Amino acid sequence: MSEGLVTVSYIVATILFIKSLGGLSNPESSRQGNYFGIAGMAIAILATVLGPKITGGGAIATVLIAMAIGGSVGVYAAIKVKMTEMPELVALMHSLVGLAAVLVGYANFIDPTSTLTGVEKTIHEVEIYIGVLIGAITFSGSVIAFGKLSGKISGKPVLLPARHWLNLGLLVLAILFGKWFLGQAETGGGTFPLLLMTALALAFGVHMVMAIGGADMPVVVSMLNSYSGWAASATGFMLSNDLLIVTGALVGSSGAILSYIMCRAMNRNFISVIAGGFGTEGGAPVAGGQQPEGEVQPISAEETAELLREASGVVIVPGYGMAVAQAQHTVYEITKLLRDKGINVRFAIHPVAGRMPGHMNVLLAEARVPYDIVLEMDEINEDFPETDVAMVIGANDIVNPGAQEDPNSPIAGMPVLEVWKAKASIVMKRSMASGYAGVDNPLFYKDNNRMLFGDAKKMLDEVLKHLQG
Ligand code: TAP
Repeated sequence: MSEGLVTVSYIVATILFIKSLGGLSNPESSRQGNYFGIAGMAIAILATVLGPKITGGGAIATVLIAMAIGGSVGVYAAIKVKMTEMPELVALMHSLVGLAAVLVGYANFIDPTSTLTGVEKTIHEVEIYIGVLIGAITFSGSVIAFGKLSGKISGKPVLLPARHWLNLGLLVLAILFGKWFLGQAETGGGTFPLLLMTALALAFGVHMVMAIGGADMPVVVSMLNSYSGWAASATGFMLSNDLLIVTGALVGSSGAILSYIMCRAMNRNFISVIAGGFGTEGGAPVAGGQQPEGEVQPISAEETAELLREASGVVIVPGYGMAVAQAQHTVYEITKLLRDKGINVRFAIHPVAGRMPGHMNVLLAEARVPYDIVLEMDEINEDFPETDVAMVIGANDIVNPGAQEDPNSPIAGMPVLEVWKAKASIVMKRSMASGYAGVDNPLFYKDNNRMLFGDAKKMLDEVLKHLQG
């Protein structure tokens, strides 16, 4: 394939990627967005493999073998992964992008065939240094995020004393090592400062994510998504591949926009997210918050069905537990039945419900719940006082009144769905266990709240049976 044809293919792929991002911004067009992305990536891979940079049978065979290995691992992971494990998988994939940037950086650095001289050589060395820096932070940060999301590492924030100074010190050192690296690289050296900076960047990534407390992980996940984009972009500069630069920048900037939206949704400061350890003050781990007052009042599936049948307005709040129980199809059956009876049923979606952005929207779309009754937190929060029954299905942190009432709570300041303002609320979960943030929930002890204990799918099946009866 000629250079010109490769350029045209890259432009077509870029347009398809932009259309893909546009499609993914809305649940109704997201399927189409995915198809655009797949088509763009297929064109990009074909143009790169068949392009003039990969010459000779040996090189093509190496690329094809690598693609077959990588592709098989990808297909296997996609088939095996459970919906609830998606965030971990995404974190792991971000780490691979970071690792790739580090490896490409080192490969470029030791490349014996490089003929660059003068300013061009210096620019290339700056690209290598920045690429390895971003890549190493993304790699170690994403590995820790994977550990936290999969429960292999505790979700509690690890806050070192004077951590902000430590972060600032690491940044200053990275700049100084950069100067040292460029100075040595001029005379053919530079390996030692590059290795030192890599170790520093790995430590920074670990420190940044370890300092993040439970409920704030979503912001970190979207931030690492953004970092992985910039790492890919840096790789593009090192390899002089325009498409990789553009694609990386698209991922980097859309991830940054998502992080900003998440920060606003969580009422967190964007800058302190980047500095690490946000949402927690002082040098000590956060306190556990107040002990809730009141009594827990259980309810049966039959009584729940009764309450729902008599309601005129019902708001369903799905959370991570609905994903675990795979209860979305039964939720839809109940919704259909209640709507057929003339009851106004709507869904309230918290921006960080579940374990990944849009988690609940995906599950509800899969169960064919109509989009027009699925509302964002801002659109529905004011309606709770006029709601007869708020039905919370496997959600916990996102309906915790402690976020508003207890300034010492680790989730203080995080906007939540105000289900306790409804005439009655029912929480479906298996026990009194806390949610992802590890905090007790005063909602469970409120006078107008009832607890329906059990697996969400099993309990909803029973509720449905009683409603049908
Ligand atoms: P959580 O606060 O984690 O609460 C989920 C609840 O579901 C748990 O308390 C659990 O209680 C219950 N549950 C689990 N399995 C169940 C089952 N089979 N049947 C019924 N209930 C079940 O979830 P949430 O309210 O959706 O809030 C999300 C949390 O995750 C937030 O803290 C958020 O910051 C964090 N997070 C979100 C993301 C993104 S991007 N969305 C990413 C990382 C972290 P039992 O064990 O008693 O059943």
